[in-house]
Amino acid sequence: MALSPVPAPADHGEMSEQADSVARSAAGQAGVLATNARYLIATAARAPSVHNSQPWRFRVSAQAVELWSDPGRKVHNDPIGREMLISCGAALFGLRLAVRSLGYQPVVELLPDPASLRLLARVAIGGAMPVNPLERQMLGAVPRRHTHRGAFAAGPLPTGLLAGLQNDALAEGAELALVGDGLPFDRLARIVAEAARRGDTDPSAQAEVRKWTRVPSSPARDGVPATSLAAPPSGRAPRGRLRQRDFDLGRGLARLPGGADENAVPPAATAVLLTPGDRRADWLHAGQALQRLLLHAASKWVFASLHTQPLEDPVTRVLIRDTLTLPGHPQMLLQLGRATSAASTPRRPASDLSP
Ligand SMILES: Cc1cc2nc3c(=O)[nH]c(=O)nc-3n(C[C@H](O)[C@H](O)[C@H](O)COP(=O)(O)O)c2cc1C
Repeated sequence: MALSPVPAPADHGEMSEQADSVARSAAGQAGVLATNARYLIATAARAPSVHNSQPWRFRVSAQAVELWSDPGRKVHNDPIGREMLISCGAALFGLRLAVRSLGYQPVVELLPDPASLRLLARVAIGGAMPVNPLERQMLGAVPRRHTHRGAFAAGPLPTGLLAGLQNDALAEGAELALVGDGLPFDRLARIVAEAARRGDTDPSAQAEVRKWTRVPSSPARDGVPATSLAAPPSGRAPRGRLRQRDFDLGRGLARLPGGADENAVPPAATAVLLTPGDRRADWLHAGQALQRLLLHAASKWVFASLHTQPLEDPVTRVLIRDTLTLPGHPQMLLQLGRATSAASTPRRPASDLSP
């Protein structure tokens, strides 16, 4: 199991009156940010991002950590930047959680400057509040959370977990709609397979996938590594599994067993992450909901495969919404299941992430 560590935060001792007085003074807040800048950024940057493009930048000032998008890293299939902002929203949740781990409440201004489209959020240090047990478990899961494309392990999800994940989504201004087995799943699987057939043979999409996938010996700190890829099925997707984007493209890169195995354990649940609106703020909310529920799930050794290929085509996106009568805009398709291993993907160092 390869887990990539996140640097430890500075030791602030017992969070109590001392933390409270730090939080109340501007100099104290600046000190917390300066001392922990690397930890805060590295924790945020463990977020999932489309093609592991890591389309984010961070600026640490005396008052706040600013999260900026990096449009130079926007993927071709995402012309309006929806997936870029979902990725950045996921990083924003990680940043908030890292602030919580220091014993403070994050104070978030979303899209604080209408004149600057790239500035997505400002996160300042708020009042002292000890980290709670669930937050502690989610923090512990940051290094092992990963996008799970290989086979799942047998066994039901922990009792109450799905309801907990739905609560996570609601708390972040999104909704997690479960897709029932049987007809709803079959209909969704057919739409996804058709979108994959078109997407995987589209020359510009193929060029983009080639640009963002990494051969086994690659030293790159971004892109999807061969160790995270499952061989695509030659025919239908394995039972209960939505067809995955073909990252391999016949190159024989994929190193994960089980992706094409017809008899593999199916995922325990399929879900769609929705938002009430479909604007930049909604995409940032979707990203925060995504990372919150993925970390919650990972804290119980439950992981997800993520699917956006069908949502990159506006017509298919509407078709999914209408077919499943979803009460919102689909932002992400997920399949959840148990796993006992966690191979993590590389990230660029915090020192490369300033604007
Ligand atoms: C907005 C967004 C879209 C994504 N779309 C897909 C997808 O279509 N297929 C897939 O296998 N993974 C998808 N992913 C997962 C990323 O490839 C993954 O997060 C990235 O490679 C980093 O790996 P990790 O999640 O294991 O840390 C997506 C992630 C995000 C945030």
